[in-house]
Amino acid sequence: MDTNKRDENMVRITTPELANEFIGTQIKALREQIGDKKVLLALSGGVDSSVVAALLIKAVGDQLVCVHVNHGLLRKGEPEQVIKVFRDELKANLIYVDATDRFLDKLAGVAEPEKKRKVIGAEFIRIFEEEARKLSGINFLAQGTIYPDILESGPVKAHHNVGGLPDDLKFELVEPIKFLFKDEVRVVGKALGLPDNMVYRQPFPGPGLGVRCIGAITRDRLEALREADAIVREEIEKLDKTPWQYFCAIPDIKSTGIKDGKRYMGWVVVIRTVNTVDAVTATVPEIPFATLCTIRDRIIASVPGVNRVAWDISEKPVSTIEWE
Ligand code: XMP
Repeated sequence: MDTNKRDENMVRITTPELANEFIGTQIKALREQIGDKKVLLALSGGVDSSVVAALLIKAVGDQLVCVHVNHGLLRKGEPEQVIKVFRDELKANLIYVDATDRFLDKLAGVAEPEKKRKVIGAEFIRIFEEEARKLSGINFLAQGTIYPDILESGPVKAHHNVGGLPDDLKFELVEPIKFLFKDEVRVVGKALGLPDNMVYRQPFPGPGLGVRCIGAITRDRLEALREADAIVREEIEKLDKTPWQYFCAIPDIKSTGIKDGKRYMGWVVVIRTVNTVDAVTATVPEIPFATLCTIRDRIIASVPGVNRVAWDISEKPVSTIEWE
């Protein structure tokens, strides 16, 4: 039997009842697999790793060790939410590593997009490996692999090029949601009691804001991006229907502005809003002009260094969703 093939008779998980049934079966299976051993999980705060963490907490409690690596490229409030939900509420055994300086130092002066992704991926593995080596008695590594990752149909995780852990750290894998599609993962997440903004959150690249701070990342431009992104998310989420993905990018250019009668150069924030089914093609939905104006006004008034806001209305193809 192909252990990486979803059983054709497997019922699609579309209701809380079916999710609870899945959770019950998985808890039993996880307890059987893990026994009294320890399992390690890199918890990004994305839907998949969060659902795996919540399942494992229910199944094996503090035999689960979660590692949340903050690479400094997360969105505003993200590490705080991971700590609040998993450490404070679900009582997870959570190791928080603020590696911002290490990542930004490694990224200094690196402008080429694929090189940036590689630097971020390699540093992530290095930090995770360091944390794993500090722990003893770990036998298992949990992963938020989902079925589209196995089918390799979606471009979302096909971008991952983080490589792997070294051979002497080859743990046995625990992949409780590997036969689920994304919508099923969300139903399970909801049934596990995870907050809506975690369960229904928009896709966010592994290299995070690193691929939206175009060219060589500098701390001040990255901070401007993080603040502008928080404003974009807050205003777009007030709409009745939010686009599939909405964020901003900040190119490595400056444009002219006028302040106190004097010309000066400032950054340009670009708003990106797209709808798509599978991220292979994407369209740009209408956004109320009033919302765009509110975003513009808030960014210009409160984000240091920015003096211009643009809205990217390009479709995929030919433009990719991300700018890098
Ligand atoms: P593009 O830019 O190729 O993006 O149209 C398609 C989808 O993939 C996401 N994306 C990434 N996800 N690591 C990821 O985990 C990455 O490096 C990466 N680059 C793009 C993007 O946000 C969109 O949803």
